[in-house]
Amino acid sequence: MFDFSKNLKKLPPYLFAAIDDKKVILRKKGVKFLDLSVGDPDISAPERVVKLLSVSAKVKENQKYASNKGKPKLRRSIKKWMKKRFQVDLNQDSQILPVLGTKEALAHLPVGLIDKGDYVIVPSPGYPGYRAAGVLAGARVYQLPLLEKNNFLPDLAKIPKLVKKRAKILYLNYPNNPTTVSAPKSFMEEAVRFCKKHKILLAWDNAYSEIYFDKKPLSILQIKGAKQVAIEFHSLSKTFCMTGFRIGWVCGNPDIVNILAKVKSNVDSGIFPAVQDAAVAALDKELPYLVNLRKTFKQRRQCLLKTLKEAGFSKFYADSTFYIWAKLPASFKSSLEFSKYLMEEEKIVATPGVGFGKYGEGFIRFALTVDKRKLTNIFKKKIPV
Ligand SMILES: Cc1ncc(COP(=O)(O)O)c(C=O)c1O
Repeated sequence: MFDFSKNLKKLPPYLFAAIDDKKVILRKKGVKFLDLSVGDPDISAPERVVKLLSVSAKVKENQKYASNKGKPKLRRSIKKWMKKRFQVDLNQDSQILPVLGTKEALAHLPVGLIDKGDYVIVPSPGYPGYRAAGVLAGARVYQLPLLEKNNFLPDLAKIPKLVKKRAKILYLNYPNNPTTVSAPKSFMEEAVRFCKKHKILLAWDNAYSEIYFDKKPLSILQIKGAKQVAIEFHSLSKTFCMTGFRIGWVCGNPDIVNILAKVKSNVDSGIFPAVQDAAVAALDKELPYLVNLRKTFKQRRQCLLKTLKEAGFSKFYADSTFYIWAKLPASFKSSLEFSKYLMEEEKIVATPGVGFGKYGEGFIRFALTVDKRKLTNIFKKKIPV
């Protein structure tokens, strides 16, 4: 009797929901497997933050509807954090909006900006939420290739004229999931210039800003003129391993903050206030946690890289984030075929590159979300190359 809308029909099943279904089948069969698919670290959120959450949940006012704008003390903490980490000055009332995780915010953004015939430009490979956001808002979606030969940075000059003319949003994400690369300042400047020239909103997803190994990633808001054309997404999910808490923020251009706030005031009723208190505690006090987190991912990265090399893989990217983006062994033609092989022959679940868009084909993504001891000797046999 009921059917999906035309827009929803355009979307494949959500990548990780489909992988989850496969995992359920394996579990039902009693198959033990190593799960390196989803970007959900096994590491606990900071202990103090969890304790504070439980205390805060008992406070009666925290059990009521929350303000859509978030608690002033949370916006203050975000302001301080952005200043300390990036030297970016923000007005906490007009340029910062706490959200229910980055995914929610980037999905609701086009609802407030897209009219019939407009385009949304999304990176490919890229986090699947961008494309879904565009499609659900009725936008036309242009997949912007991130190619290995360009170090996974897009060639903005190659975007067709019509797309440039009708595009409302350009989503970009560095440090990048899934390719792991960070963007140099020169590219960030180019992206700001491009968006200014074509009057496109630059929606910069900085969810992995703290998961780096060498050079500290920048904020797009550090780039001159960015506040006129850009907003930036941040998430406590990856930064403090608080994926289940559902909290992050959007900051930057005040008009966009206002537009998103209007959309959200019509669809949600704010963030659980106790979770907001927990976020304040994380942002204000948990810098040492972050230092340890990076150390842990670095060790895991070393272990898995060694294991992959020994198994016969020859090309990988592992610059930042907690992923390894590995080129398929030459004997495999598609990432789906290879992920099936890994699951069936090696009992390893990894994410096929094509799941991140057509330009992700030829790669597979491993997430460093299990302990380093589990990352050695994971292959029973040499991968056919
Ligand atoms: C690039 C990117 N952006 C956003 C998200 C969503 O994060 P959140 O938990 O804040 O919704 C993810 C999650 O994997 C991601 O990889």
